[in-house]
Amino acid sequence: MLASNLVAARGLVLLGCGWIARRHAVAARRLGVPVLAASRDLARARAFARAHGAVAAFGSYAEAVSDPRACAAVVCTPHDRHLADARLALEAGLHVLVEKPIARTLEEADRMLAAARGAGRVLMVAENFRFMPAFRHVAALLAAGGVGALRELHLVARGFRAHAGWRLAPEAMGGGALIDGGIHYLHTLRWWGGEARRVFALRPPQTVALGGEDCVDLLAELASGAVGLVANSLGSRGVPRVQWSTVTGAEGACFADNRGRWVLVRGTGGTRLRWFVRDTRGHVAMLRAFEDAMATGVAPESDGVSGRQDLALVLAAYRSIAERRPVDLAC
Ligand SMILES: NC(=O)c1ccc[n+]([C@@H]2O[C@H](COP(=O)([O-])OP(=O)(O)OC[C@H]3O[C@@H](n4cnc5c(N)ncnc54)[C@H](OP(=O)(O)O)[C@@H]3O)[C@@H](O)[C@H]2O)c1
Repeated sequence: MLASNLVAARGLVLLGCGWIARRHAVAARRLGVPVLAASRDLARARAFARAHGAVAAFGSYAEAVSDPRACAAVVCTPHDRHLADARLALEAGLHVLVEKPIARTLEEADRMLAAARGAGRVLMVAENFRFMPAFRHVAALLAAGGVGALRELHLVARGFRAHAGWRLAPEAMGGGALIDGGIHYLHTLRWWGGEARRVFALRPPQTVALGGEDCVDLLAELASGAVGLVANSLGSRGVPRVQWSTVTGAEGACFADNRGRWVLVRGTGGTRLRWFVRDTRGHVAMLRAFEDAMATGVAPESDGVSGRQDLALVLAAYRSIAERRPVDLAC
């Protein structure tokens, strides 16, 4: 396949050797894409390279993006680093896959989009939910009218997790649970239900230390008239690990496991359960889509503009919390 050959012939730089970088390294290995591991610490880059079969290790991000083997980079760093690290790669002529959120503010997002346009390179946001086979199945079902006219989308993802390091720093995070894991569900709300025209959000008292809020409950009025509800929390002790998102329509309902392992559809056509076993978190499909965008020049589904829209929704929710009132969005 042309797309795979493009990056496979050269290499994919991972900027930052932390948790999410491992997921990208595994996906790259599956596609036969050589990885160049870049860390602020050479020993860490070398250890990462050994563990994940990377072809090179660098103790500086700048050195890694200038390596002649580098064709593209994945920005796997804290939120306050996304703009600078994406620009570093774009200015070196690389295509960029930036981890979510695209940035902390719309102004940062706009500067990143401008840098990508100026460099003539692909800017994609690593919104892996967009590439989860189960979630794509739901999107296709809804688009085909599988549950009838949309009524409600309830995206509920609540858990309990203590954090350390940069996630405790407000500057580095740019927010709390919603801008971190919650943004996946806001993206999914937009994707499945269409754009939101108004949101109202609240946050309960905090239980977990984080740079921002540990929980948001958000109600969204979608342009179609359907209602979205996103409940996202890292501070809900005791909730079960198995959680799912529900979409109801005039003729049925569909339930999708948040980890992408199953989708259940019930309605006038009976009940259907479908299991998903391969690439359930969508990282391989996402990397393939990134390669396709590089090869064809066609913007990927989760491009920088879409990532900016996701961020705009997060920031509207934060404004609603701060001002204790619904906030309108331009859709
Ligand atoms: N799509 C998903 O499901 C998902 C899941 C988790 C995280 N993420 C996103 O991925 C990004 C990284 O998150 P993570 O969980 O992988 O974090 P992490 O484990 O802490 O890794 C972040 C890496 O960034 C590098 N870094 C550069 N400057 C830093 C600084 N000032 N402080 C701390 N680290 C710095 C470090 O790598 P070196 O020391 O090697 O330079 C560090 O290991 C974030 O944007 C996050 O929202 C996405």
